[in-house]
Amino acid sequence: MKKLFVVLALGGLMVGCGEKKKEEKKGFEMNRTKTEEKAVEAKSEGVPVDMDNEGVGPFKDITFDGEIDAELAAAGEAKFNTICTACHMAEQRMIGPALKGVYERRNPAWVMNMIINPDKMLKEDPIAKALMKEYNNAIMLNQNLSEEETRAVAEYLRTL
Ligand code: HEC
Repeated sequence: MKKLFVVLALGGLMVGCGEKKKEEKKGFEMNRTKTEEKAVEAKSEGVPVDMDNEGVGPFKDITFDGEIDAELAAAGEAKFNTICTACHMAEQRMIGPALKGVYERRNPAWVMNMIINPDKMLKEDPIAKALMKEYNNAIMLNQNLSEEETRAVAEYLRTL
């Protein structure tokens, strides 16, 4: 009986939700083929790129030093590995976007405002809103990081 229910539920999902659901499922598969990866990449192009947008939150006018601060990045990496990897990988889309190269599409202040207060960003920022749509309405959870912790994670993202 249980089995029958599962089969029916799966059938319903496939018929009911169509493409979006399939995309979501794909995100969980680690070994996608190159073609599939390209398709996912192309799809993300619907999200606007505005390097002047700093987002909403405490960070403004952030410029990074030319050199990466290795110690700060290491602290950020430790944090990232405990709280961000549930949803993010460096090079592949998962529940959230791949984070390698994020500073090529987003202003540093935007990235840090997203990390420190995703709730506000998802409500008020046009890029964050478009991202949420692209990511099947998955909500990036607020991890309650301090400004210092956020800065460290931001430094780590530079190393990806
Ligand atoms: C519960 C899952 C989840 C967790 C945990 C999470 N994120 Fe996210 N993140 C997302 C999703 C999903 C998006 C896309 C926007 C949306 O749908 O909310 C996103 C978007 C982002 C973006 C914007 C990426 C881009 O391409 O513009 C950055 C940067 C980011 N997250 C960094 C982090 C960092 C750093 C952490 C850890 C402190 C973290 N996230 C924790 C799910 C998560």
